[in-house]
Amino acid sequence: MRIGTPLSPSATRVMLLGSGELGKEVAIELQRYGVEVIAVDRYADAPAHQVAHRSHVIAMTDAGALRALIEKERPHIVIPEIEAIATAELAKIEAEGLAEVIPTARATQLTMNREGIRRLAAEELGLPVSPYAFASSAAELKAAIDGGIGFPCFVKPVMSSSGKGQSLLEAPGGVQKAWDHAMSGSRVEAPRVIVEGMIDFDYEITLLTVRAKGQGGGVETQFCAPVGHRQVKGDYVESWQPQPMSEKALSASRAIAKKVTDALGGRGIFGVELFVKGDKVWFSEVSPRPHDTGLVTLVTQYQSEFALHARAVLGLPVSVEMASPGASAVIYGGRDEKGIAFEGLDQALALPGTEVRLFGKPEAFTKRRMGVALARAANVDEARARAKQAAGLVKPVSG
Ligand SMILES: Nc1ncnc2c1ncn2[C@@H]1O[C@H](COP(=O)(O)OP(=O)(O)OP(=O)(O)O)[C@@H](O)[C@H]1O
Ligand SMILES: [Mg+2]
Repeated sequence: MRIGTPLSPSATRVMLLGSGELGKEVAIELQRYGVEVIAVDRYADAPAHQVAHRSHVIAMTDAGALRALIEKERPHIVIPEIEAIATAELAKIEAEGLAEVIPTARATQLTMNREGIRRLAAEELGLPVSPYAFASSAAELKAAIDGGIGFPCFVKPVMSSSGKGQSLLEAPGGVQKAWDHAMSGSRVEAPRVIVEGMIDFDYEITLLTVRAKGQGGGVETQFCAPVGHRQVKGDYVESWQPQPMSEKALSASRAIAKKVTDALGGRGIFGVELFVKGDKVWFSEVSPRPHDTGLVTLVTQYQSEFALHARAVLGLPVSVEMASPGASAVIYGGRDEKGIAFEGLDQALALPGTEVRLFGKPEAFTKRRMGVALARAANVDEARARAKQAAGLVKPVSG
């Protein structure tokens, strides 16, 4: 294992595909080791662009543009940060030995499509999941619901994230509307949705799971303490760590996470999303990359999920040890405007144990995530209250 000098012929070059707030933290962690960081996104001045050696704006779903950039920059390692990428081209690039894809090109292909990862988890690995079916038209969707999924159920485009295009259907009548909404929030032309029976869970967690080189030289799996979170319309609003769980539920969660991450392979961090009721656990989905709810680890772990990812990617040892209970609360744009400003940071940071990250996104939308408030405290309840209080004190204003 060696790392060169950035901006010299010996440089270790890493390309981030997707340069949002999660990529920004990964870039910062890589910078700490003297890695040469190349950040890519579909718009200019994205968060990770601002902390990279070089930045590029391309359509990452355009296979030709993606290959041309990789051939020009010659990164040793490519780290996808988002799902909307030409993953088939990444698979070719990996097969040709042009660059290593994190965790693997196949993992990015399987997880960018809900059908790929659901069939792997349920049909190949036999993991417990919600009842599900796929549909390619409103009529097929109705037939799937009538044929056994029933109500309440979730309808989601197979290619989408952060709750985009999702509907919760409580009763017959809204099926056509759910289909239309899914099509408007979908990333691709091919019309297809998954419909899932609703799991009546007590709570949901992200089990951050890291595959990194261990003492013996092979890849070993470690689990962070469970992250609890609350979602509104498919988007996370607050998270905390650790989420208290029964021992049985925790070991079932780890067994599920181990199975699915073993199947995806490679090195790096994974966010395994699970639903829990009593001792019973259901697999929901997995991100082969840092998870937004894991922003909390910036204050709760000695090595945040971003530091763990950087280390694992570079072939370095990792530790998932916790430093303190903590929580995160999202700071939204609150307005549709470019170049906004924030006030009240002084008040937020005057609260004990708090930190704030502002992502530096060039344009705000009312519900766009622009920052996050973080709090460490003696216990999760205190941390949650303080993180929410801090987030509320940070006020987006006109620039
Ligand atoms: N079958 C289900 N039963 C109960 N709740 C569900 C189900 N599917 C989704 N949800 C709720 O909706 C949230 C978002 O769903 P999901 O994770 O599938 O969407 P997503 O768009 O991938 O979101 P993200 O990208 O933020 O993870 C879940 O975290 C959960 O709170
Ligand atoms: Mg999710």
